[in-house]
Amino acid sequence: MAVGIFDSGLGGLTVLDAAQKRLPDVPFVYYADSAHAPYGVRTADDIYDLTVKATQALFDAGCDLVILACNTASAAALRRMQESWIPADKRVLGVFVPLIEALTERSWGDNSPPREVDVKHVALFATPATVSSRAFQRELAFRAIGVDVEAQACGGVVDAIEDGDMILAEALVNSHVDALKRKMPQPDAAILGCTHYPLMQEQFQAALGKEVKVFSQANLVAESLADYLERRPEMLGEGETRYLTSGDPKQVSQRAVQFMRRQITFESA
Ligand code: DGL
Repeated sequence: MAVGIFDSGLGGLTVLDAAQKRLPDVPFVYYADSAHAPYGVRTADDIYDLTVKATQALFDAGCDLVILACNTASAAALRRMQESWIPADKRVLGVFVPLIEALTERSWGDNSPPREVDVKHVALFATPATVSSRAFQRELAFRAIGVDVEAQACGGVVDAIEDGDMILAEALVNSHVDALKRKMPQPDAAILGCTHYPLMQEQFQAALGKEVKVFSQANLVAESLADYLERRPEMLGEGETRYLTSGDPKQVSQRAVQFMRRQITFESA
């Protein structure tokens, strides 16, 4: 048994990479739903159905714990899955909470009432589905008061990254940052609320300016997973790390190698 990591495509590899560095002895099964990516332009029902199917595939591959390393799935499907679908002996965790805990200077599971925090003006970059779910603002409101959030739906960026068209991805990042700055000229912090965006982190930072603190999820999620496994060691599996995809394994492997600059071989899910 291994820990499952799910994403609509290759973006979750940024989370997997950080998790493997933090937990080198833990085996992982990564699932890329490449046949259905991008999720960010789909309806909430559609995202729910696809996420349930992929999570079931990870349970079937022997994972008792699955991380939805996809903000769109975490925002649009996780709560509904937790309320009505996840079997009692399995766990599914999302990627929002570790990020918001870092932004609001909280340690894991600190459920004290919302309070004032250092950051006041936060720019959120995410997919259209994540932005319209307002899940980020909801989770933030449980923990902080007085934070102004301006969300920018970054249409097209995930498709460009999945297609390996980094020139288009860069141009789109610049234009989304421009659009955000017209609404919020001086954010103190920016959240890369999509696991694909760390692949464009330098571009975001350059377009935002170096005075803006850019939060990205990979290390935060890896740290929180390490913490969780320390408290729930029975979820820590054994076996081999595998990479599954609903898409064309050859093409997906090629893109993965291009992004992560190491050998990654996908098999058909
Ligand atoms: N990488 C995913 C996220 O974190 C989803 C991107 C997509 O499929 O649109 O939101």
